[in-house]
Amino acid sequence: MNNFLTEVLQDLGAKPKSLRSKYFYDEVGDKLFQEIMNCNEYYPTTCEAEILESKAEVIARTLRNGFDCFDLLELGAGDATKTTFVLKELVAQGLQMTYMPVDISANIIEYLNSSLSSKIPGLIVEGLHGEYFEMVDEANRRSTNHKAVLFLGGNIGNMPPDQALVFCKKLATSLQKGDLVLLGFDLKKNPAVIRAAYSDSGGLTKAFNLNLLTRINKELDGNFDVSKFEHYASYDPATGACKSFLISLKPQEVIISGNKFHFDQDEYIYMEISQKYSLEEINGMAREAGFTIVEHFFDSKQWFLDTVWRVV
Ligand code: AVJ
Repeated sequence: MNNFLTEVLQDLGAKPKSLRSKYFYDEVGDKLFQEIMNCNEYYPTTCEAEILESKAEVIARTLRNGFDCFDLLELGAGDATKTTFVLKELVAQGLQMTYMPVDISANIIEYLNSSLSSKIPGLIVEGLHGEYFEMVDEANRRSTNHKAVLFLGGNIGNMPPDQALVFCKKLATSLQKGDLVLLGFDLKKNPAVIRAAYSDSGGLTKAFNLNLLTRINKELDGNFDVSKFEHYASYDPATGACKSFLISLKPQEVIISGNKFHFDQDEYIYMEISQKYSLEEINGMAREAGFTIVEHFFDSKQWFLDTVWRVV
């Protein structure tokens, strides 16, 4: 039995029901996420692109960290569009650097391996296809070079804060003393701005969430009627938790690979967390995880933070 099926059966069989947002990204989901990034309400991508473009030179110098030779890993690289600004600067500085994008999608890694060195002449690319920490270990086996690790886009927000801390601690222990990480955090801000980003007026986020039900129908022999579910996004300014749910509009039964699930009217499926942080919380997490803060890079609105930390 595959992981996807195992986890869906487990998560819908639990109380409360949930699904995992890492499964949003099939072909349709990838496209919908692209559209979300281009819609007016969804600000994080715009903010981070502004940081990486306008501060590319100083970010590249910071990441170089005084080394002439190092490996640059990127966890969840995607198509690496935003990273390109910084990669170009690093190549221009003429160092010996290997860019190692890590992604769970074999397609993406193949694409990056074949396209990036022609887009950025002189860049050495060694894509790593697999789970984050397994690929960090793999990179360590390939070379003893110092490392810098990028984790952009506020992807860390898809973990609740306690798991994000565990993730950062693991990162610190996988690296050498003196190595750097650059993490993208979405910051706490006007709650209405945040909620609007996750319930856009064009219905893209709704379609993005419902697409996971469609994906289950296609890949796991399910029979969800997506018209019987509504998307609901909430943001709690007290905790910084932005959560997405799908709400069952009727009492109904759904069958997935022969397994029957009952939904009460108004019962929810918890789909995703996109955690928002204050600067104090981020500084605290760095310290607790075993890093010192090197530099904070904000966008002009101070809505998003790319922060660079050093392993103590
Ligand atoms: C890709 C995890 C950064 O949480 O903001 C966008 C995903 N979900 N709209 C986020 C997402 C709904 C996004 N990340």
